[in-house]
This record gives sequence, C-alpha cells and structure tokens, in this order.
Amino acid sequence: MKRKALPRITRTSALGSMLLTLAVGAVAIGSIGAPALAADFGPVKAAQVDAKKAALGKRLFFDARLSGDAAISCSTCHNPAKGFADGLALAKAYPGSEGFRNTPTLINAAQKAAWFHDGRIGTNLNDVTRESITETYTMNMDMRMMQERVKQDPIYVQMFKEAGYGEPSNGSVRKAIPEYLKTLTSRGSPFDAGKMSAAAQRGFDLFKGKAGCAQCHSGPRFTDDQPHNTAVPENPEIWSNPLRHVTYVSFAKFMGLENYMNHRRDVGANIRLQKADGSNVGKFMTPSLRELKQTAPYMHNGMIKTLADVVAFYNRGGGNDANKDARMKPLGLSSEERANLVAFLEALSGDALTGPEHVWKDKINVNYVAIEDWLNKKN
Ligand code: HEC
Ligand code: HEC
Repeated sequence: MKRKALPRITRTSALGSMLLTLAVGAVAIGSIGAPALAADFGPVKAAQVDAKKAALGKRLFFDARLSGDAAISCSTCHNPAKGFADGLALAKAYPGSEGFRNTPTLINAAQKAAWFHDGRIGTNLNDVTRESITETYTMNMDMRMMQERVKQDPIYVQMFKEAGYGEPSNGSVRKAIPEYLKTLTSRGSPFDAGKMSAAAQRGFDLFKGKAGCAQCHSGPRFTDDQPHNTAVPENPEIWSNPLRHVTYVSFAKFMGLENYMNHRRDVGANIRLQKADGSNVGKFMTPSLRELKQTAPYMHNGMIKTLADVVAFYNRGGGNDANKDARMKPLGLSSEERANLVAFLEALSGDALTGPEHVWKDKINVNYVAIEDWLNKKN
C-alpha cells in the first residue's frame, strides 16, 4: 500500500516535534483503502531473511539481559506457546509499572505498516525494537548498558561477527531482532490449505458480504492497517489499578497529551494526531485476524474473551461512542450465521511457531569470564 504523508502537526514544543518524527511514514489516519477483493486474501508471503542475522536476533529475543534488571526478555510477553502474545487481558510490565494494553502477536508483525495498537510508530521495526528495549515500562534498558552486556558474552561476539555485523553494537541489536521477527510468518491454516469446513466457508461468505467485516479486515493479514473507532468498552482495570494508571499517565505525559492527569480512557490513535474536536480519540489499528485461536483475549485492552463474544459484539453494532465508525451497525445475524463466522475466524489459525526454527532452545549461559578493562576495550 502506498503510504501517505500525515497532515502537519501544529505544535511547537519539543514533544510536538518528537511526535512528528515518530509519525513520519505512518499511514494517514482516517484514510480508508479500497474495499477488499476476494483475490486480496491469501497466504502471507514469507519474507526474505538472512539466516545468520535472524539466528542472532532469535537469541537476543529470548535473552533477559536485554532488560534493565536482566529478568525479562521479549519472549516473557511475546511467548511462542501463546502465539507470541501472553494470554493476558493487559500486559505485564517492568517492575514498578503495569501494562495498559493487550500484548499483540508478533506473527506477521514484520509486514505491518504501523506498529502498536495506536499505530504510533510508522517507520520500521528497528524503531519498534528500540522502543521496546528502552521504554521504562517494557524493558527499561539503557542502550549503552545493553551493548556492554552483549559485548561481554563470547557467544555473541562470535555470532555478531558471523552475521557480518563486526563488534556487538546496539545498532546491530536493533537490526538483528527485526531480522528474526521477519521469520515469524503464518503457515498451515485450513484457510490457506483450501481445507475449510462448509461452516467456515459460509462464514467467509458472510465475512465478505452481509457481515461487512472485509471493509476493514482485508488482504492476506486481514487488516487495512488503519485506525478505526469500533467503540470497544474501556478496561476499568487501567483506571482502578494504581500501577496501571500511573503507567498510562506517564505514557500520556511523555507523548505530549494535553490534560494528561485527567484522562479516564485510552485515547488510542489520537496519540499520533491530536485533533481539537477529539474525533481521533478511541481509534485503534485494525489487527490481523490470523492466529486468533492462540491469542485470546482480544482487542487493544483484552476486553473481549472469546471469538463468539467478538462476533456478538459486532452483531450488536459494536459499542457506544459518539465517534463510532459508520460501518458499525447491528448485523442481524442468526445464531447459525454467528457460528459460521467463528468457524471461519478459527480457520485462519495455523501451525504454532514453537520449534527450534522460531524459538531459541539452548540455555543461555551467563557464566563466562568477564572482559578485563572492558571500559577501554574498543566496541
Ligand atoms: C512487558 C511486556 C513486553 C515486553 C517485555 C515486550 N513487549 Fe512488545 N509489546 C507489548 C505490548 C503490551 C505491546 C502493545 C503496546 C501498545 O500498543 O502500546 C507490544 C507491541 C510490540 C510490537 C508491535 C506489534 C504490533 O502488532 O503493532 C512489536 C513488534 C514488539 N512489541 C516487539 C517486541 C520486542 C522485539 C521486544 C523485546 C526487545 C518486546 N516487544 C518486549 C509487550 C511487551
Ligand atoms: C470499521 C472497521 C471494522 C469492521 C467493519 C470490522 N472490524 Fe474487526 N476490528 C477493527 C478494529 C479497529 C479492531 C481493533 C479494536 C480495538 O482494539 O479496540 C478490530 C478487532 C477485531 C478482532 C480482535 C482481534 C484481536 O487480535 O484482538 C476480531 C476477531 C475482529 N475484529 C473480527 C471482525 C469481524 C468478524 C468483523 C465482521 C463481523 C469485523 N471484525 C468488522 C475494525 C473493524
């Protein structure tokens, strides 16, 4: 899809210009792609991957030394056994904070146009990786410290060299992890294999027709990569649990949101483009519909527990919000039609990516001899 420039953000503060920098390359809010054609659906194409760089990225992804307290790795939240999500409504976080969003799957994430539920990073996975490592509530790691830790480990020294990166550096960590993420591609679903049940096939017809799902969920990943307001109810836990609340408040403050102390709802895509009339509040990126069997609960805040509940939500015309998308209307689906839609959604789930191709299986040995005079050793 061709990316469009965002309208100018008319803010003069440093945070405003930072927001602008974050938004460069992001897809325009509110612009909607052409309606999907049946031919748009199909297997997600595997990306070209450099095997040595991806192997290095895989070890880094499973290595807790990338977090400030060396206790959590990317895989703590993005767990392969749970479809690279965590099975929780709201994510865990670094000690002293609690997450305020549902952990998304990383399967097919390398193919997105903008990342995070609010689409706030629209550049590349290198930036998403940096954000995930340094953000205080995810891994709270200083990049220089990370570089030193990696440099101390002789296995990394060898792997960085073999991958063609030379000495370990934070810049190449931020390249190797995205290379690994590119290996996480859906495969083996009944939908791709042409082996859907008759019920799932009827569900697919509803999806493209009467139920109107394909207006937003189109293409091989079943997403238009755009933010929309479907009026998913707020998760009250974010506002009643002090640690989650303070994590959200500090996020909102850092992102330059006005009146950040007084929010009682997740502003969603408005973080990227603050409109005075509030019409971007409550828009979230359309997620992929692949691997849903592995990634319950659903939505940006985990408020919907099962696929049957998701379909019931759409059948009601979504939730209540003044800015709800006009396409969210009661659908009048019978219970059989709703069951068919669920069967179709389930047919978009394929093989678990839990083998050695996708998971670092060796124990990560941290009992190496520390480099003497490390401060003066060249990076
Ligand atoms: C403490 C839990 C946690 C850890 C640790 C964590 N993540 Fe995440 N990750 C999340 C959550 C929650 C989101 C969604 C955040 C949002 O929307 O604001 C996310 C979003 C992402 C996304 C965007 C996915 C999408 O569909 O837009 C990528 C890519 C990602 N993480 C990669 C990583 C990598 C790489 C690491 C390790 C360097 C990592 N994450 C560590 C919880 C975590
Ligand atoms: C107006 C655009 C739009 C339409 C129409 C639409 N969706 Fe969605 N869908 C979204 C958005 C946006 C989200 C994320 C909302 C959030 O996180 O709060 C979503 C989320 C979902 C999820 C949760 C996925 C996850 O991993 O959390 C499922 C499942 C889903 N939609 C299925 C459907 C089905 C089935 C239909 C048709 C009955 C449909 N959608 C119609 C935009 C749409």
